[in-house]
Amino acid sequence: MKNDNDPLQQAGIYRYGTDELKAFEQRLIKYFSREYRQHSSDDQPEVPLGQGPLALAAEDLADNHYDEGINFFLNFLDRQTMSYTMAYYGDTPEAALSSDKTLEQAQTDKFSLIARRMQLSGDEKLLNFGCGFGYFESFLLETYPEIEIAGLTHSKDQYDFIKRRMQDQDDPLSSGRFQVFFGEIDDDCIELLGRERYDVVSSMGLVEQINNIEMFYRIIHQLLVPSGRMFHHLIVSRDLIPRFLEPDSTLIGEYFPGGKVLPFYALKDDIAGFRLEDAWFLNGMNYWRTLEKWHANFWENISHIYPEKMDSARVEYWNNYFVLCKAMFFPENGTAYGNGQYLYYKQS
Ligand SMILES: C[S@@+](CC[C@H](N)C(=O)[O-])C[C@H]1O[C@@H](n2cnc3c(N)ncnc32)[C@H](O)[C@@H]1O
Repeated sequence: MKNDNDPLQQAGIYRYGTDELKAFEQRLIKYFSREYRQHSSDDQPEVPLGQGPLALAAEDLADNHYDEGINFFLNFLDRQTMSYTMAYYGDTPEAALSSDKTLEQAQTDKFSLIARRMQLSGDEKLLNFGCGFGYFESFLLETYPEIEIAGLTHSKDQYDFIKRRMQDQDDPLSSGRFQVFFGEIDDDCIELLGRERYDVVSSMGLVEQINNIEMFYRIIHQLLVPSGRMFHHLIVSRDLIPRFLEPDSTLIGEYFPGGKVLPFYALKDDIAGFRLEDAWFLNGMNYWRTLEKWHANFWENISHIYPEKMDSARVEYWNNYFVLCKAMFFPENGTAYGNGQYLYYKQS
């Protein structure tokens, strides 16, 4: 449908809910489905996990993605959890699609699920790598009155946002049981964060941006107490899609410089001083539904974003991002791509 009063549409940018955008999403779903079927296999080829630098383009990633500006993220994430990873609606695709949970409730349910699967006892020291806006931390501080938490992010915007939250006496982050660190994950962060200081190290939506997983796990090994454990939640494919291991050959790499999608099985093993305790695959319709809501929110709030904060090229960039990610999770009823969760115990 043509709308001559809409400058974005005149620039060829279609809004959420338009037939044109739905048709674009359908074309991408077909593309991902076809590619997925080509690579679907019972074989599990080995995936290199210990090569090269820890992250391929960490600075670009922070500049191009996470530091787009707090206002941008406020306009599509839910305000209660500001969680920038999959919300948990249910275990099956049907449950994920038919659930009557709000986005806020589904994000809080993800926090509870992860706390349970991490086997938190409530009086431990936890380090969360890639802490985003710090709401998983608030949830844990409120749920467990004796827990102590440290978070690390390499986004200056997120760090400043968290620092501001820590000044507010009504915010759980001001409890004195929380610390935030700004920086990249590397060998130097071990002394900064504290050698053998943590009972648990966790991450959500971070490992996709780590290139050398063995190096990452070796760093965590040094941060954990001898009986410590680690938990990771990340986007995975079911089977290996080779181009998703090469950030420069996917559009995902354009949005998340250095980003990869590993097959679920790749981390389901003992590795670099850790014993795998358990692993779970979460159906991709959970992420589809989360992205659908983020995409709708983005367009509902577009007047706060365009033209003041973002030009039309940038609106197109982010609009395509939501469509692309949704289309990736949709094929095969959410079983082709989803999220993997992994719990490991440190081996001395
Ligand atoms: C997708 S966001 C997820 C944020 C949060 N865990 C959540 O669930 O909302 C990924 C987080 O990882 C951080 N991150 C990515 N690569 C990093 C690196 N190399 N060093 C430190 N932090 C990194 C980002 O700054 C961001 O906070």
